[in-house]
Amino acid sequence: MPRLFVAVPLSQSLKERLQAIQPPKTRGITPMEPDNLHLTLQFIGEADPEAVLEALASVKARSFELEFTELSQFRNGVIWLGVKDNAELKALQLAVLKALLKAGLPLEKKRFVPHVTLARYKRHVPQPIINELIQQTAGEVPSEQVLAFSLFDSHTVDDELTYTRLRAFPLATLKPA
Ligand code: 2AM
Repeated sequence: MPRLFVAVPLSQSLKERLQAIQPPKTRGITPMEPDNLHLTLQFIGEADPEAVLEALASVKARSFELEFTELSQFRNGVIWLGVKDNAELKALQLAVLKALLKAGLPLEKKRFVPHVTLARYKRHVPQPIINELIQQTAGEVPSEQVLAFSLFDSHTVDDELTYTRLRAFPLATLKPA
């Protein structure tokens, strides 16, 4: 069965901008492939895509603007770009979680910390090096309008981690008056 997760895809121009602020590849530090950059809403793991697609089709949520904050880290080896507090994003994440739970998918309970993973690092990399990387100014990262969320499949192609978008689900936009 495929390994699935639900995420907000990022535009090509944003991914290019993020590539410019990713930590460079050095011993023990691996930047994410720019094409793979995304904001995870819910990790699912191995599951039947049909059941997941059906559950996600019931999600109702609104389009919103994604704004970014600064670089930070999870001590388990993730360097990430933070996302500004956003009620619509939280509502979307909750709607996705509820739809998947209703469909009976076993999900790990994890607090939602919205972020875009920029790089991963190994345990042996000294913390002062990581701190230096995340303290350097990221510069302004432009905000962007999120018009859809997607179901992704995570797999490896020739040893390379590859995320494939299986389907996009549009978010509601306000109709012009
Ligand atoms: P991330 O959101 O910190 O980048 C696919 O693996 C995506 O799902 C990645 O973006 C990954 O981390 C996220 N994810 C969340 N929980 C996960 C888990 N338990 N195992 C693998 N990936 C997970």
